[in-house]
Amino acid sequence: MQDLQQLQEEALALFECLDTPHALEDAKARYLGKTGALTERLKSLGSLPHEARKEVGAQINQVKSVISAALEERRQALAKQQQDRELSASALDITLPGRQMVERGGAHPVSRTLERIETLFHGMGFAVAEGPEIESESYNFSALNIPDDHPARAMHDTFYLAPGYVLRTHTSPVQVRYLESHPLPVRIIAPGRVYRCDSDVTHTPMFHQVEGLWVADSGISLAVLKGLLSEFMRAFFERKDLPTRFRPSFFPFTEPSAEMDIGCVICAGQGCRVCSHTGWLEVLGCGLVQPKVLVPLGIDPERYTGLAFGLGVERLAMIRYGVDDLRTFYENDLRFLRRFQ
Ligand code: PHE
Repeated sequence: MQDLQQLQEEALALFECLDTPHALEDAKARYLGKTGALTERLKSLGSLPHEARKEVGAQINQVKSVISAALEERRQALAKQQQDRELSASALDITLPGRQMVERGGAHPVSRTLERIETLFHGMGFAVAEGPEIESESYNFSALNIPDDHPARAMHDTFYLAPGYVLRTHTSPVQVRYLESHPLPVRIIAPGRVYRCDSDVTHTPMFHQVEGLWVADSGISLAVLKGLLSEFMRAFFERKDLPTRFRPSFFPFTEPSAEMDIGCVICAGQGCRVCSHTGWLEVLGCGLVQPKVLVPLGIDPERYTGLAFGLGVERLAMIRYGVDDLRTFYENDLRFLRRFQ
């Protein structure tokens, strides 16, 4: 009995100081294995006197179950230690915030301006039309009453492509294309990219225009043109009292022609660097469609009148957002672009 008790204490103490599963399983063999101390004792029961067998057998089994339980407990403790070690070795910090793989984007300020312009004209009954950016010289110039030797061709700093083709220098060719393929009356805007070989603080080789064209057999006059564009500018700049003025100008495809100015929104007409101390900002070209554009399209200018205008999108965006160098729109510097989100 004394001996069994010692055996149990020795086993429990031993398990406690073993710190690998392998050593633990070896120690198990020493007590519970085929030739282990307890197994040997059970085997030797047969040599005991009959009366003693039952009691000693029960004692041995009692010790055996204590040792088995201690063994199992130690196994689990070692497994847990092992798991803790592995977890801390892999250094996974589950409290770290996730990596932002996809940054939140936003529309480019020029796209936003385009959308704004489209929405406002849509509200005034204009549909949206499109035309190609690679344009024939005849749509870009000739059909708009700009003959071969006309100085306006030189004014546009044209990018010439294959003979007879150019990168369109303005959106006005869409006027002709649209009139050719649609019945009257028409009331459209044509937004899109245009190209001129030019680059400084107010010019980039590619920029955007929105063309406007309204041709009908009644209701169109210079007064309507002025009212329409003034209303648009006031809505665009959210200024009910925005002053506007129309200066006589020249475009071969309109007659009369005008350039439209708005009161400088930066200095409220007082004169500043942005408006070159004039108090006015030039925003677009416009006029009544020249009969020489309509006649070749089979439209009778005695019956139909048209108004047309072409505005620079970047120009409006610069004024609205207070940007003083147009080129920054196309440098793709996120620090700049994020300001418009
Ligand atoms: N197409 C002209 C330009 O680019 C603008 C314009 C359009 C003028 C329509 C009158 C009518 O300068």
